[in-house]
Amino acid sequence: MDLRIIEKWLEERIGLSTETIGTEAVAKVVQARMQACGLADTDAYAAYLLRSEAEREELIESVIIPETWFFRNHRSFQFLQQYVKTEWLPARGHRVLRALSLPCSTGEEPYSMAMMLLDAGLSEQAIHVDAIDVSEKSLQKARNGVYGAESFRRKDADAAFRQRFFEPVSDKFHICSAVRQIVHFQQGNLLDAARFAKKDPYDIIFCRNVLIYLGEAAKKQTVKLLEKLLSANGIIFVGHAERPAFAGAPFEWIQETGVFACRRAAALQPSSAKTARKINSSPIKTPVAAVPPLKPALPLEPIFERRQRQQTPARPTKEGVTHSQVVEPIAQTEAANNERRHTVDMMTQTLDQARSLADQGQLAAALDVCDTVLKTDAVHVQAHFLKGLIYQALRDERRAEEWLNKTVYLDPNHEDALSYLAALAEFQGDFGKAARLRQRIERIRKKS
Ligand SMILES: C[S@@+](CC[C@H](N)C(=O)[O-])C[C@H]1O[C@@H](n2cnc3c(N)ncnc32)[C@H](O)[C@@H]1O
Repeated sequence: MDLRIIEKWLEERIGLSTETIGTEAVAKVVQARMQACGLADTDAYAAYLLRSEAEREELIESVIIPETWFFRNHRSFQFLQQYVKTEWLPARGHRVLRALSLPCSTGEEPYSMAMMLLDAGLSEQAIHVDAIDVSEKSLQKARNGVYGAESFRRKDADAAFRQRFFEPVSDKFHICSAVRQIVHFQQGNLLDAARFAKKDPYDIIFCRNVLIYLGEAAKKQTVKLLEKLLSANGIIFVGHAERPAFAGAPFEWIQETGVFACRRAAALQPSSAKTARKINSSPIKTPVAAVPPLKPALPLEPIFERRQRQQTPARPTKEGVTHSQVVEPIAQTEAANNERRHTVDMMTQTLDQARSLADQGQLAAALDVCDTVLKTDAVHVQAHFLKGLIYQALRDERRAEEWLNKTVYLDPNHEDALSYLAALAEFQGDFGKAARLRQRIERIRKKS
């Protein structure tokens, strides 16, 4: 199936780069949509897509990743509160604090911002939060404001806020109207510059966990948009792996462990000394700070072999059906099965070779061999995991995290990838995230 026209359309429309989630993952989503539309041929589906705005929206809804939760990366929310109390409030005059959550997904992020700002002592009337996302389905959930346990991942730490700002509704929680009226949900595409042309500047912008999925052009366009939307002394919060997208932009990073935020270089005034002390005075050159290497990074053998023996579940779709269940029945003949077994055996051998090279310290060669496997099977979980470990051995934490995240994306129950991610989070000082990852591992262990 030639997907290029659909991939290109996705990149143009929402900025999604198939390299980030893999062509195979996109292929499975498209296959599922083709089945839903009763179309067997990719060209026919591509033609239908160009005719039907409704189908374009369905495809976008199927391909986006709405993962979010309350107070995600809690240190950033603490910093937000500190900034508001020590810098924004003393200089505010009669202004309303304007904040933006772009993208806001199902609402946990903008509601967290609103709760944190109320907790900082601002009144409801003094806060305005715009919350924008391309996904209308996510926005419907956000407007309903009813959340289950999966949205509260910090257990005890969330409990106090839940008690204060939510009402229990059977086994879920409904956000209270005081917080709801602060947050203004709107559908919007961050690539649609005209959509943002008339917006007044924002004091606080959260643009987290979307840049990682975008192609280079869309990343650049988004950073430019943020630059336009940020007030003179405002702060932009990003996801922990997203700082490289800002290379060359006129921002400086907040130097505080576990906080991934930047502001205009010109905003560094002596009067804002308290916050300014924590800000790097040199412009962004190498945006990812050097992090001490993880130990033990190698040997790879024990973990890797254990995982080889485990079966890898496919990533579930929103409907609860796995992607492979959707596409699997296509080739059921004996010949096809034999061929498939042969390919799997070949890939296992090739991956063994990669692991053995890595164990001998030939890390660049090992990466090349992993890439060979990924050319045949772009969603090979163990090849992703091994790349994560190799980058870790190379002390390239950013790439290690990227490949370990991809591993977990493909196999949400991958305990070893989650353990390594937890260790990385600890090294980065994000102890909340590390604890959540370890709790997730515990839940997986209990279920199995
Ligand atoms: C992983 S969620 C991030 C939510 C939240 N910012 C957080 O960090 O928890 C990614 C969101 O990006 C949205 N998204 C993807 N492409 C977009 C675009 N071009 N414009 C607006 N939203 C987009 C998706 O709909 C999804 O809800």
